[in-house]
Amino acid sequence: MGTKNSRIAGFYQLSPEQRLQEVKSFDGLNETDLTMLRGGNGILSVARADKMIENVIGTFELPLGIATNFQINGQDKLIPMAVEEPSIVAGASFAAKLARVGGGFRTTSTRSLMIGQIQLVDVPDIAAAERAIMAQRAEIIKLANAQSTSLVKLGGGAEEVEVHHFADSPTGPLLVAHLVVDCLDAMGANAINSMAEAVAPLLERLSGGRAYLRILSNLTDRRLAKATVVLPPAALARPDMSGEEVIQGMLHAFAFAAVDPYRATTHNKGILNGIDPVLIATGQDWRAVEAGAHAYAARAGRYRSLSSWHCDADGNLVGELELPLAVGIVGGATKVHPAAQAALKLLNVHSARELAEICVCAGLASNIAAMRALATEGIQQGHMALHARQIAMSAGATGTLVDLVAEQMVRERTIKPARASELLQELIDVFV
Ligand code: MEV
Repeated sequence: MGTKNSRIAGFYQLSPEQRLQEVKSFDGLNETDLTMLRGGNGILSVARADKMIENVIGTFELPLGIATNFQINGQDKLIPMAVEEPSIVAGASFAAKLARVGGGFRTTSTRSLMIGQIQLVDVPDIAAAERAIMAQRAEIIKLANAQSTSLVKLGGGAEEVEVHHFADSPTGPLLVAHLVVDCLDAMGANAINSMAEAVAPLLERLSGGRAYLRILSNLTDRRLAKATVVLPPAALARPDMSGEEVIQGMLHAFAFAAVDPYRATTHNKGILNGIDPVLIATGQDWRAVEAGAHAYAARAGRYRSLSSWHCDADGNLVGELELPLAVGIVGGATKVHPAAQAALKLLNVHSARELAEICVCAGLASNIAAMRALATEGIQQGHMALHARQIAMSAGATGTLVDLVAEQMVRERTIKPARASELLQELIDVFV
């Protein structure tokens, strides 16, 4: 059991600066780390940004929040989340609090195996090409590994070759060679792409065909992270509903996502609501994870829920989420973006797998929050207060006027820009 406690009572009531001090004492961050997490003031300088992507004209900021209450494999974690949507951080924190009652989240993960694909066309004899490629596996792997000596030195690198045959495609038969690479703590895109490009000429010689695409696959189904959670009925009980009734509702919510792709898409979006913000805060390629997650959701031939839920013999609601999570803690934006580095330090992760396991817990927590709300009072009630604040601000309210306008709109159950402007004008006329 860890000694840190991520249950910080009243965290949401503190000022951003007070929250930052709580975060500092949680994980021994120093003043420089806090400066990075505080953001603004050119933390990601335009000069640095100009080295990250092309045609830079500036930087773009997002709110950075902290999800509290997480307990993962007995260790408490504060989870940084960069996201623009209200209720995500609150929902994940709330669900993590419920999860603590049943012992928190438990996780596992696979090795960091990724696939590089080399497309071969105009192969004269498919069977002979497959044989020739497999006979030269060791040579192909050696050539691939010559591209990434650092990965190999650390015990990773290319370790297997596979060949897939598509008898028919819009441009005729295809042979696709897969290079299976252990990326260890790197996301691995650069290493894999270099390897795929390097082995393509050899594959052309062996197959007698022509190599076209040489690129990693974002369907990283051998790089999975999994989280499970047990929610006792007592944790889910509400003043107006028993825990058993809430569980029944949540099982219906899961059943809907299990059979209907229209619902499963939204259900999975809710899961990614928890994952993407952690990916962004830690400088990951979140588009890669999104692509992999949705493809994985369709792996059985029909798009379905990424999480699964059932009731155990003791009447607890048990949830499980597994998905591909290609993340890295070395290289890429993790090293270039100062706030991403501080976020990784806060998470105190020492491997890409640990980071992936935290992400999958954040996803499962978001899923719990959404299913519980949807199966009970509906999603709008919780959203309303924060949404009202956003509308008030977009109407021009600042300072205490934001709360006054927002509270009145919630009371009236009319959260509209036009009403926000009217209320703001009334308040300005009275007070200013
Ligand atoms: C909104 O961002 C996410 C939800 O739609 C997820 C879901 O429906 O499960 C609430």
